[in-house]
Amino acid sequence: MANLAAQHASLQSEIESNVLNVLRSGGYILGDIVSSFEASIAELSGCAHAVGVGNGTDALLLALMAAGVGPGDEVITCPFTFVATVETVVLLGAKPVFVDIDPISYTMDPQLLEPAITEKTKVILPIHLFGQISNMVDINRIATKYSLVTIGDAAQAIAATQNGNKLGTTADISTLSFYPTKNLGAAGDGGMVITNIDSYAEKIKLLRFHGSKGTYDYREVGVCSRLDAIQAAVLSAKVKMLPTWTEKRRSNAESYLAELSDIDTIRLPATLPGNYHTYHQFTISVMNGQRDALKDHLMQHGIMSGIFYPVALHLAPAYADIVSGREGQFPYSEAACAEVLSIPVHPDLHAGDCSIVADKIREFWS
Ligand SMILES: Cc1ncc(COP(=O)(O)O)c(C=O)c1O
Repeated sequence: MANLAAQHASLQSEIESNVLNVLRSGGYILGDIVSSFEASIAELSGCAHAVGVGNGTDALLLALMAAGVGPGDEVITCPFTFVATVETVVLLGAKPVFVDIDPISYTMDPQLLEPAITEKTKVILPIHLFGQISNMVDINRIATKYSLVTIGDAAQAIAATQNGNKLGTTADISTLSFYPTKNLGAAGDGGMVITNIDSYAEKIKLLRFHGSKGTYDYREVGVCSRLDAIQAAVLSAKVKMLPTWTEKRRSNAESYLAELSDIDTIRLPATLPGNYHTYHQFTISVMNGQRDALKDHLMQHGIMSGIFYPVALHLAPAYADIVSGREGQFPYSEAACAEVLSIPVHPDLHAGDCSIVADKIREFWS
């Protein structure tokens, strides 16, 4: 599903020399390398501020903290996501309120939002799952109507755009992950918060450093979560390749879309109108309860695939009581958990690999 060793080999001398420079400099926390990488992500995302933090989970936590989320508040999000989206809301003492996904794009269905809004709602937190931005035109319209903050979980959607607008302009705050297998991955953990709103950026800079303005000048109760200088060194070498890698993902996706279009027992991923999809995952829905059998079939032929995600979070033991979750509550999320299968789409695939995968999928149904 990823070939990180091949990715490293393709940029080996630059990555290793950047890392050596950091090691020899003696400056390991924040500093120029982190600032210049933050500047490159701000530019790429079309926004004024990018604040490097420890990982994508902390990016969510800090974004929610900056928005003032705390006990008694409600945050509207979807149950079909990676756990971090919901975990961070609960850690702050707030309540996640779920709305279902749109089954075509697997992202938040804005039509379900208004009935879920209460006096306690503070934030709408859509997830830009698999590499495309949720319908932010409709989500922002509703957020504005009810004076709510929008935070986009863009861990999987770096470099995505919507209607020509760059990611960093599509929500009040967006969060990124540099987990190694992400489209832009570090050699360890890393994350970033991006925003155009000065006050949020200032607050997140404060919060990531124990709430301290200078040394020992504690203005807020903060956390310790900074993007590591060594990770910034790795990411600085890789970020130049991101447009090329994204185009490679898109061309791999095009191959699958062409080669698998006539198999009616699978549903291919759809792109929302106006979206530039970055295909963090190429995720098909497998009909007739055959998902796990297809996964096994691919594995028998040496092809890895992934299930993102097998459990809708309203049914996960850790969250079911908190959200009064029950089966059948969010049918599209639950169906997705039973049907989705992500097949390799990463940029280090070789020419012809997608055809091999497509052939094996076809063979399964014959
Ligand atoms: C949708 C989503 N949100 C949040 C995260 C959390 O990112 P990290 O693993 O860097 O903490 C991830 C990454 O796995 C993710 O896919």
